Amino acid sequence: MTGTRVYLDHAATTPVLPEVVDVVAARLRMLGNPSSLHASGRAARKVVEESRESIAAALGARPGEVVFTAGGTEADNLAVKGLYWARHADDPRRVRILASAVEHHAVLDAVRWLADAEGAEVEWLPVDQRGRVDVDVLRSAIERDPASVALVTVMWANNEVGTVQPVEEIVQIARRQGVPVHTDAVQAVGHLPVDFGGSGLDALTVSGHKVGGPVGVGALLVRRDLDVVPVLHGGGQERDLRSGTIDAASVAGLALAVEMATASGARTAVRIGRMRDDLVSAVMAAVPAAVRNGDPEPTGALPGIANFSFPECDGESLLLLLDAQGIECSTGSACTAGVAEPSHVLLAMGIPPDVAQGSLRFSLGHTSTAADVTALARAIGPVVERARAAGVINRPGVR
Ligand SMILES: Cc1ncc(COP(=O)(O)O)c(C=O)c1O
Repeated sequence: MTGTRVYLDHAATTPVLPEVVDVVAARLRMLGNPSSLHASGRAARKVVEESRESIAAALGARPGEVVFTAGGTEADNLAVKGLYWARHADDPRRVRILASAVEHHAVLDAVRWLADAEGAEVEWLPVDQRGRVDVDVLRSAIERDPASVALVTVMWANNEVGTVQPVEEIVQIARRQGVPVHTDAVQAVGHLPVDFGGSGLDALTVSGHKVGGPVGVGALLVRRDLDVVPVLHGGGQERDLRSGTIDAASVAGLALAVEMATASGARTAVRIGRMRDDLVSAVMAAVPAAVRNGDPEPTGALPGIANFSFPECDGESLLLLLDAQGIECSTGSACTAGVAEPSHVLLAMGIPPDVAQGSLRFSLGHTSTAADVTALARAIGPVVERARAAGVINRPGVR
């Protein structure tokens, strides 16, 4: 519970940890640009470098591999565009991007932009019913012509259904052919063990506000020997990969959040996973016609996400009816020109558009309690009944 509201939308953003609020507030009172040479600048630089070391230690990276950004979207853009530009410049035959069909829009739209503006050839890797990438398709796509592949990008875990991708296998396949791999680990960090060095990945995206840190700060972990062309040009900060004055306060908050989330990760995952199982049972008991989307195996999914389709319902109506009861969750749909489109993730999993349209994501996090699940268990049945009745009334030709 958050105040009187029942917050079941932690995958959208999770409350900032109180310790992080204190650290950020303290740093905001400090003066100094980390690039300045005087004492104030050096003090700010110390904060930035200690934060870099702490993030590297928490995620199995070297400090020099941590590039601070203004969030997950920017880190994804830097990885996808920067890697494509560098690899293509190095060898113009490298025009193919292999990306999973269930990526977050920060990757999806960066890839689409490269196709539209730069002539990249995109191959969307299909997923199975659970939302998992088929590694055999990836293998044959690379082996067909390895010299033409610029990069592979597959997220560590999906933000809508929680499915965990076979990142280790993907890296093995791509590495054998010398193809770099980026992963968007925004939803994985703090919920699953993430070891950048051990994973063999070339680049990995982190975002602050999904782990109890501030919004608007993130990092790209990127191997030192990897050539990446910057998206932003300016003062040459962050190894010349990301120009712009570093926000020392936010970076300190990000570091503390990552440190705390990874330190308590295994314990929190067990607690949240149990609550998620209770939530799934409660929803299925209240609405037997509901269908759970994603991987039902605990090892195949994030502990905190449960996604359902409610037949004959509209997801947005369900969301608003729950909101009126004080319960906050999310639909996976994107709004295009004011029209809610079914989620590309659910469609890629083979869910028909009308069923996908009636889907909701409930996501738990570090402040979730059993009372949140109880509140949803009470509300969901009547809400689905109301949404169904409204849907029948609204359907053309039906009164
Ligand atoms: C998987 C994933 N990638 C990227 C992002 C974007 O991160 P940010 O909000 O920090 O830009 C999100 C946020 O919703 C996400 O869930």
